Amino acid sequence: MNITIIGTGYVGLTTAVVLSYFDYNVAAVDKDEGKLNLLHKGKSPIYEPGLQNLLDEVCHTIHFTTSVADVVPDAELIMIAVGTPSQKNGEADTRHVEEAAREIAKVCHPDKHYTLVIKSTVPIGTNRRVAQVVDIVFEERNIQGNISVASNPEFLQEGLALQGAFYPDRIVVGANNDDAFEALRRLYQPILEQTFDSPTWLPRPAAYHLPPMMATDPNSAEMIKYAANTFLALKISYINEIAGLCEDVGADITEIERGIGLDSRIGRRFLRAGIGWGGSCYPKDTAALLGVASQAGYQMPITEAARVVNFEQRKRIVKKIRNALKTLKGKTICILGLAFKPNTDDIREAPSLDIIRQLVAEGANVRAHDPIANSNAQQAVKDISVEFIEDVHLISHNADALVLVTEWETYHKLELRKLAKQMKTPILIDGRNVFSPQEAIAAGFHYIGVGR
Ligand code: UGA
Repeated sequence: MNITIIGTGYVGLTTAVVLSYFDYNVAAVDKDEGKLNLLHKGKSPIYEPGLQNLLDEVCHTIHFTTSVADVVPDAELIMIAVGTPSQKNGEADTRHVEEAAREIAKVCHPDKHYTLVIKSTVPIGTNRRVAQVVDIVFEERNIQGNISVASNPEFLQEGLALQGAFYPDRIVVGANNDDAFEALRRLYQPILEQTFDSPTWLPRPAAYHLPPMMATDPNSAEMIKYAANTFLALKISYINEIAGLCEDVGADITEIERGIGLDSRIGRRFLRAGIGWGGSCYPKDTAALLGVASQAGYQMPITEAARVVNFEQRKRIVKKIRNALKTLKGKTICILGLAFKPNTDDIREAPSLDIIRQLVAEGANVRAHDPIANSNAQQAVKDISVEFIEDVHLISHNADALVLVTEWETYHKLELRKLAKQMKTPILIDGRNVFSPQEAIAAGFHYIGVGR
């Protein structure tokens, strides 16, 4: 099967590489020449565990190009995986999706059938809009054209993208005709039946069951994506809200996480209190869902509250540092972790950035470290003065507080005693409840966690 993927971001590139691993003929289109230059050299423009390994295996088989016209005519299935950034009012901007659809319709063969798959996260109803865009171009070209539009939302998590691509929980397809379902069933057959040989470094999980492909209508498929992300976002905000109350009444949130998570109706995952969610998805998608609701004249107070609680968590952390030090002015604060979550170099909407800005605004000197995301973060805060540290073991020298913001594995193993010894005032603010309070205290720290 000939497949063209428009967009080589986290979703587009992961999908291209995985489909190529299944021996499909894959072409990937991106307008960003810098990214393509790297991809032509076989280098991944993003950090995602395992992606470079897989790219090493398959990059010579993927046709990377800036030109839709080069590859679309010969494709059978075309996937749109471009960004849908937030507009000022929170609504998702689908301009790039529509633009991609327009370009595709301009160059496709009049007599050939194509399946056009929307993988980008888009507001409910975008599938119809895309079909309209295609029809308008066909009218302009004075051709009949034959494109079936399908919605196929992506659920992969950064840091676990390949895991999610090879071993998904489910595949959701929204379409109005059987051809599109059939094309996607064929495309995903290696995943649905798990007929591929797993990469040696990413074996099939022992308890993994064959994933269902859920067929539904396009609007529902689009809604499933927003509802899933919003549900996870509010699950996290809920536990953070309970964590705040735990601090006031003297309970330990990690015990609550365990105690309610063991109820199989609730489940333990996405129930970790901390600084809250960031990244390119939850902040954008919760806002976009509220935008969809507002257009429909519908209120979503739970979703609104989840956002309020989430962004308050960042302020609460700064307040904790301020309270511990009496003032932030002239104090040296060390930030451990800048990426919005571990195992990615992505700093979009990362809590670390808001926290750093607030600290600097209040006169603190900030030192920051991330195993992978230092240079991305450096770019993001280049308008303020922040010292980026390469060797985390040296970060706490003469510092007033150490703040763990992103729970990278490497921080779990830090020698707390050494770090505490180097500090002026050994205060540890554990924004992700990674450390045992007893061990931190034994190492010489004054320990402050979240909800404990
Ligand atoms: C999320 C969804 O999990 C994916 O299913 C979806 O495909 C993706 O958005 C998307 O829409 O593209 P992602 O944003 O990569 O994936 O990361 P998550 O692992 O969901 O984490 C999001 C944020 O929640 C992170 O900042 C993380 O630190 C935070 N989090 C997560 C918590 O604070 N507590 C938890 O228990 C779990």
